[in-house]
This record gives sequence, structure tokens and C-alpha cells, in this order.
Amino acid sequence: MSNRESNTVYSRIAGTGGYLPERILTNQELEAMVDTSDEWITSRTGIQQRHIAADNEFTLDLAEHASRQAISNAGLQTSDIDLIVVATTTPDQVFPSTACLLQSRLDIHGCPAFDVQAVCTGFVYAFSVADKFIRTGTSRCALVVGAETFSRIIDWTDRNTCVLFGDGAGAVVIQAHDAPGVYSTHLHADGDYASLLHVPSGVSNNLAAVQEGRAYVEMSGTEVFKMAVNTLGRIVDETLEANQMTRDDVDWLVPHQANLRIINAIAKKLNLPMEKVILTVAQQGNTSAASIPLALHEGITNGNIQRGETVMIEGFGGGFTWGSALLRY
Ligand code: UT7
Repeated sequence: MSNRESNTVYSRIAGTGGYLPERILTNQELEAMVDTSDEWITSRTGIQQRHIAADNEFTLDLAEHASRQAISNAGLQTSDIDLIVVATTTPDQVFPSTACLLQSRLDIHGCPAFDVQAVCTGFVYAFSVADKFIRTGTSRCALVVGAETFSRIIDWTDRNTCVLFGDGAGAVVIQAHDAPGVYSTHLHADGDYASLLHVPSGVSNNLAAVQEGRAYVEMSGTEVFKMAVNTLGRIVDETLEANQMTRDDVDWLVPHQANLRIINAIAKKLNLPMEKVILTVAQQGNTSAASIPLALHEGITNGNIQRGETVMIEGFGGGFTWGSALLRY
């Protein structure tokens, strides 16, 4: 449902930040680890390299770097933040949430802080929740983070998955504003597809696998690919219709960066030339919940996305979950 007419308070992006670990893992290095080739990875996914967190570097550390940059780029202080929502599938601890740990790192006290878990759609979920807190007047200035050390749940002997993912964090500060800002957000899930993309063990079910470091991503790649293209195609229509807009109204697409071929299909659906799509997949791979805020940060930092332009973000991931947002930057 469009939120456009429902309230006079809107949320608007005030600043963005991003952080990538120093260590880069190239396709060539992967050739020495599993039966793959740079040619296969590049042609099937568009990925050339990905960043991998150091052994002593954790999701919280990545989130802190990105958050401090987003708050600084917004021209704000940490004390201005009155809501923290972190999207992550790879939290440092079972509890407290990464959001609470981040809150402490940033020396912020008292405001609500919680994690959301929607895997690669996690940032869109977190962004949508924070947008609703602002629209309802509950919050004025929210820090929304997508942060992952996905490399820790990858089986580095499984060529079906290990070539795809990387680590990183992106953060966005959104503030209450009297004009959009965020026009609408759209969230969906269908748990019937859980087994096509999952880590089939956790704290309650098969804790031994977690303790022994065998809790790995398993994916039926081709099925996920087809569902992603179809589902994201539909959510593009849903998002435009909710705002009585056409695809000509969209200036920029900021997609989840799982596979260049999926992104190409959605750009085609929007009739957008690839120059109007923010791409980080070649350099970063799929950083799950971090990929969209990292791409948004890149698009804004390199001067592509300008104030007043209309941006669509969209993502698809485990669950299945999928979602989108349409906003005026
Ligand atoms: O972010 C969450 C959502 N995730 C996604 O959106 C990922 C969606 N899926 C994909 O991106 C693609 O399905 C993949 C990149 C994972 C695979 O591409 P594909 O076009 O679906 O695969 P394909 O049909 O071209 O190739 C599959 C073949 C298989 O071999 P056989 O069974 O046909 O002999 C695989 O064993 O490619 C083989 N293969 C590889 N070969 C070399 C799978 N991984 C590799 C690899 N290197 N790393």
C-alpha cells in the first residue's frame, strides 16, 4: 500500500556510509580453492572480487565504521539518533542484538535498537520499519544499517556458493521531513521456499553444526535465480502503481547485488539503461543485507544520484523475502 497520502510526516535520507574490509579475494584466488574459473564467475554473475573480514573483524566493527560515516555525512552527531535498526544474518552474538551492541559503541543511550532478519532483503525490511517509525512520529532520526560477515557461513569448498558472497556494511540516516523522501516501501515473504536458500542449522536446531563451524549457506541457485527475476519484476510494477508513477519517472535503480544478470533483467523491465543502475557487484559480490546501502552510498558519493532524483531500491533473498522502496533523494 502506498503511504503517500496517509501522513504529513515523511522520512528523507540525510546521509549514507559504507565500509568494506581491507582483504580482497579475487576470482583468480578462488580458482586455486575450488573447481571454478574467472571466466565462469564473471560471465554467470558479473563478480570479479569480494571483500573478506579479517579474523579479528566482526559484523559490529563493519557496522560501526559505516554508521559513523553515515552520521557524519548527514552533518549530525551520534546523540541525534533516536532509533537504530540493523539488518544482519550474521550477528556477532546470539544476543544482545547487533543494534544494541552498535548503540553502545556509538555511545547512544535509551533509544530503541533492534535487529531485523530478512537475509538479502534485510536492509529493505529495516528501512521500511524505520520509515514507519518516522511517519508515525515515534522517531525523528533513524540509523538503518545492513552489515554482514557472510564469509563466516560459507562453505569454502562449495563452488556453488563460495564464489558469490562477500562481507561489508552500509548505513543510512533517515530524518523526519515535511515532504518525501520515501514515497512508499513494499515488503513480502513466502516461507514455503525456505529450503531453496538457507543455512539449515542454528541455535535451536543442530547447535553442534554452529559450534563446529559447519553452519553453511545452501542454495539451489538456478531456482533462486528464476524466482528472483520474476518476483522483482512484479514488485517493480507494484511499487510504481502504488505511487501512480511510470517507469519513466525513475532516475536510478539501486538493486540488491546478487547477480549482474538478475540486475540486467530488472533494469530492462524498468526500461533503464545500465548507466542509470548503481552497480557494485563486480567489486563487492553479494554482501547480503549490506549490498543495497553500500550501493546507495556509492551512487551518492560518486555524484551519480543527485538531490531531487527518484530512486528505486529492491532486493530478494532467503525466506524467500523480497521488497522495494521508492524515494526522492
Ligand atoms: O542474494 C540472494 C539471492 N541469490 C541469488 O539471487 C543467486 C541466484 N542464483 C544465481 O545467481 C545463479 O543461479 C548462479 C550464479 C548461482 C548459477 O548460475 P546459473 O546460470 O543458474 O547456472 P548455470 O545453469 O549456468 O550453470 C550451472 C552449472 C552446474 O553444472 P552442471 O550441473 O550443469 O554440469 C554447476 O555445477 O554450473 C556449475 N557451477 C559452476 N561451475 C564453475 C556452479 N557453480 C560453479 C562455479 N564454477 N563456481
